Amino acid sequence: MGRRKGGGVGDLLMVLGLMGLVGLVALAGAHGSYPAVGGAANLGLSGGPYRQRERVIRRLETLKASLAAGTAPSPASPITSRSRVYHVIDYGADPTGSTDSGEAIGKAISDAFQAPSDRVLMPGIADLGGAEIHLDGGSYLISSPITLPAAGGGNLKIHSGSLRASDEFPTDRYLIELDSTNSASSGFSYEYVTLDGLMLDSNFRGGGIAVVNSLRTTIDNCYIVHFTSDGIMVRSGHETYIRNSFLGQHITAGNDPDEKDFSGTGINLAGNDNAVTDVVIFSAAIGILVSGQANTLTGVHCYNKATGLGGTGIYLKLPGLTQTRIINCYLDYTGIVSEDPVQLLVSSSFFLGDANVVLKSVNGVINGVIVVDNMFSGSNKGIDIVQLDESKGKFTNIDQVTVQHNVARGMTLRSTVAKASVDGNRSTWTVDFSPMLLFPDRIQHVQYTLLADAACPNHALRNTSGNRVVIESDMTVAASVYVAVDQCVHSIG
Ligand SMILES: *[C@@H]1O[C@H](CO)[C@@H](O)[C@H](O)[C@H]1NC(C)=O
Ligand SMILES: *[C@@H]1O[C@H](CO)[C@@H](O)[C@H](O)[C@H]1NC(C)=O
Repeated sequence: MGRRKGGGVGDLLMVLGLMGLVGLVALAGAHGSYPAVGGAANLGLSGGPYRQRERVIRRLETLKASLAAGTAPSPASPITSRSRVYHVIDYGADPTGSTDSGEAIGKAISDAFQAPSDRVLMPGIADLGGAEIHLDGGSYLISSPITLPAAGGGNLKIHSGSLRASDEFPTDRYLIELDSTNSASSGFSYEYVTLDGLMLDSNFRGGGIAVVNSLRTTIDNCYIVHFTSDGIMVRSGHETYIRNSFLGQHITAGNDPDEKDFSGTGINLAGNDNAVTDVVIFSAAIGILVSGQANTLTGVHCYNKATGLGGTGIYLKLPGLTQTRIINCYLDYTGIVSEDPVQLLVSSSFFLGDANVVLKSVNGVINGVIVVDNMFSGSNKGIDIVQLDESKGKFTNIDQVTVQHNVARGMTLRSTVAKASVDGNRSTWTVDFSPMLLFPDRIQHVQYTLLADAACPNHALRNTSGNRVVIESDMTVAASVYVAVDQCVHSIG
């Protein structure tokens, strides 16, 4: 039964109705059906106080009609809105942010969770029909997290306003928490919940949004600041889609004098199958931390904290199997680090300010890594575009690694394939590929051509040790030798 009335203003109207409402009704009637709405339309205004007045007047009309019909209004009577949009100010939330609105917002949520039908999404998750928690463009102070009822539900949206943590807000929580941890049924409590058009200010107390073990959650057009832990944290569950949003611990536009002190993580993905799309992270020690599998990051711009100051743009902390795809991102003075990467794609991205990709050995495994078609731009300090961090041990288990087709300006290209040539009138030709190959001392495949003008010597490949290819001929001859090498060949044999 969804036509629960909203309390707050609804109750007030009831009281007014019972105590001399007639005058008010007459006032509304004298101006026609919806005088304020007409005014708003004429002025080209659509939101703000006009909507609120419209709703109040609509309720007065309903009440007037019921009084005229001689039917006494009851809480379940037509006085209640048929709408499933729950306006938090109707519940007494303070849109100016001077008093705590946590309880009022909680009441709006709990009404929205009265399911309108028996329909369900996943088994045990009530279909709330598209109910909305409308923040009415207000800025609300809260002292404890906004949580959803443990009974669960889905097909719901919370939108259009700001939340700010009060000075009493617990530092280990998030402003909004979708947490199915205590779910009784399928293990999931929330499905298809959308958080849209929210500014979340954690007031340097905890984080912005936590999505735990939930299904198909959308976080869209949110601006999340002043977190000390994570802007957004996703754990377990499936398919949290974070898109078109801005996250930063501090509100800055770059070159912040305090950048070295930035801490926290913009987005912490500790679950599988999520997508981060068109998101900017403008301050945090780590932009995006990924410790779940099969996540996709596209259109992400990280300028959260420069690598030189100890920051990381995207940290893939899932040694052994990451299955992460990073495509069309912008790593701005801060790079990508991946531990024991297995199945990783980095492509079509732009790295500025010596930002680079670090492949870090933990147990020495690197397998199925593709870093292609990226642009790197640096400051001529000789920084490699892709680096191996073997401080914890060498990569020993190497297979299917392709780093190629990247371009660099003011940085050193590194690749798993390379081509070069050498000329001379001699019997030994050496091509040193060590300045351009990624792995030290690893050449799995060589192709070469010896082009001699005058003679036809016998010649052979002699040595590839240390990434140096040595070709020898049985006579001194003026020749050019063209060599192509590959460090990782998936052999069919
Ligand atoms: C190459 O070197 C050999 C022996 O040192 C010499 O006889 C020959 O003329 C040289 N060829 C050219 C093209 O310089
Ligand atoms: C290949 O070159 C390395 C380094 O110069 C050398 O130590 C090694 O003995 C060479 N191997 C062969 C087969 O000549």
